[in-house]
Amino acid sequence: MEIISRRARIASVARKLRRENKTIGFVPTMGALHKGHISLIEQARQMADAVVVSIFVNPIQFNDKEDFQKYPRDLMADATILSEYQVDYIFAPSEEEIYNEGFSTYVYVEGLSDIFEGASRPGHFRGVATIVTILFNLIRPDFAFFGQKDAQQVAVVKRLTKDLGFDTEIVVMPTVREETGLAMSSRNERLTKEQREKASVIYRSLCEAKKAFDSGERNVFVLENLIREELAKEPLAKIDYVAVVENESFKPLEKITEGTKAIALVAVNFAGVRLIDNLLLS
Ligand code: PAF
Repeated sequence: MEIISRRARIASVARKLRRENKTIGFVPTMGALHKGHISLIEQARQMADAVVVSIFVNPIQFNDKEDFQKYPRDLMADATILSEYQVDYIFAPSEEEIYNEGFSTYVYVEGLSDIFEGASRPGHFRGVATIVTILFNLIRPDFAFFGQKDAQQVAVVKRLTKDLGFDTEIVVMPTVREETGLAMSSRNERLTKEQREKASVIYRSLCEAKKAFDSGERNVFVLENLIREELAKEPLAKIDYVAVVENESFKPLEKITEGTKAIALVAVNFAGVRLIDNLLLS
């Protein structure tokens, strides 16, 4: 496993792999690796000849300076984990290596970037779309792996991949959950054990909507209310948004008609920590 910090080096490694007709599986991360990341890496290992994992805490996707500063960083701990999963290359550039002096080119996916997570975290998806484009350009992966937990990020990345013509298949892996149902996230580290248990209300609330959908409920207002009612049972959960939308465009729905792919979304501020989760209904 080689740890690479230079753009020129990762680009040249990727070129060499392509010349050797090896497929590249790419897992972009911000480090602080957990089981959710591991499921992406294992899938990459199965699908591709070479696996590249990037570790870069991307400053331009944080709209809160303190959040960025507090983000856990431990490259050696992450590298130790990755060495157990037969990762071939870690790309861990410095901030200056990616955003050189005078950097002024950004990628902005219209529409999708300004709703839900985008409305609550202005500039977040512009930051994500920009770094993903830079990384895709350097690595030109055959497959790139993302977690379903960040469903809106997945929609943004799929859109930019199509619009900018990257020859990369976006592979989406199911959300990995703690035993209680709480979706794995590096943010969970900021909760106490007791709070983590209580935060399982988020997944339970989504399951209420799924249960109702499976029993025939198609009215979005009713489904959203079921989620809100379950969340209201836990005083630590302060709702940011609850919505049932179309899965790719994130457009609002009133009724879930036959053939529509609907997804239920939740964002809450839980004991001061922002948590998101989602569940595909159909
Ligand atoms: O999901 C993440 O960890 C980040 O948003 C990503 C995709 C690595 C871009 O910085």
